[in-house]
Amino acid sequence: KKDIKILAIESSCDETSAAVVVNGREVLSNIIYSQIDIHTLYGGVVPEIASRKHIEKVNQVIRTALKEADCTLDDVDAIAVTYGPGLVGALLVGVGAAKAISYAKNIPLVGVHHIEGHIAANFIEDKTLEPPFMCLVVSGGHTHLVKVTDYGQFEILGVTRDDAAGEAFDKVARAIGLGYPGGPKVDKLAKEGNPDAIEFPRAKISDSAYDFSFSGLKSAVLNYINQKEMKNEEINRADVAASFQKAVTDVLTEHTIYAARKYGMDKIALAGGVASNSALRASMKAACEKAGIQLYYPAPILCTDNAAMIGAAGYYEFIKGTRHGLDLNAVPNLKL
Ligand code: KG4
Ligand code: ZN
Repeated sequence: KKDIKILAIESSCDETSAAVVVNGREVLSNIIYSQIDIHTLYGGVVPEIASRKHIEKVNQVIRTALKEADCTLDDVDAIAVTYGPGLVGALLVGVGAAKAISYAKNIPLVGVHHIEGHIAANFIEDKTLEPPFMCLVVSGGHTHLVKVTDYGQFEILGVTRDDAAGEAFDKVARAIGLGYPGGPKVDKLAKEGNPDAIEFPRAKISDSAYDFSFSGLKSAVLNYINQKEMKNEEINRADVAASFQKAVTDVLTEHTIYAARKYGMDKIALAGGVASNSALRASMKAACEKAGIQLYYPAPILCTDNAAMIGAAGYYEFIKGTRHGLDLNAVPNLKL
């Protein structure tokens, strides 16, 4: 059986990335140009700047990915590209580049859902992982509890009703004076704090055991800080970080374990930027051990946005027969 080599492109937010992936699992290259330094100046991602930076970098990133994989476009069996969800201007750059190469070299084009990519990062990390499994997708833009029934086949059990988990991390980080992106900084500072110091609320949603809500928690943290400032009391930022982080990870862990049990799943996978959070990994690990569930999570570099994960998802779409034409467009609110 011939190996299938995929050139993958990802540009949905603030990372310009290209990768070469073989048979969905073996990464020959994964080049990530992060724009974080620029967006940090503004405290968050500025869409217009993101688009411009993608345009500047996309060709260079693709060329480097091919070079590092020691191959040319003639060796590529398909081009996989993220076409949604994400920032429309940012997505269009990757989609445009992919279509241009597909047309010029007559290579099949496969549009990939960004979340499907995050989930597929687990296939790269553990070559033996196969569906079905329960997957918690937690990133800056998404909080999804997904039943992965087969490759490229999903059932969404729960979503966030308001803020995404990563968004909550970023907002709380800003409130306690840490920069953007806040997740990794909260994670680090929390290691010096007491997670039981402050009792922050855990939102329960009465009509769904699987949905999430983080805006109430975020407000509780902001109120706590305001009240302390009003009373001129000192704020222990490490305690705030640790207690907030525990409130988030408790809920994420509880819902995911509940869903896995309910559906009789013996495997749980984590995906998305927040999946690299050390407290989430630890609490999931403890809960999975107790429940006799096998836990999977990708290395941090595969958790945040990267093209290798798009190459993994793209492979499974490709062998299923998914093909897109040159009319492929960016879909900012693409559904899974
Ligand atoms: O998956 P990703 O790169 O982009 C989206 O698709 O949204 O995720 C980025 C998000 C940011 O909100 C960032 O703060 C968060 O993931 N994040 C973390 C950690 N590393 C990244 N949140 C908590 N702890 C971390 N260690
Ligand atoms: Zn992402």
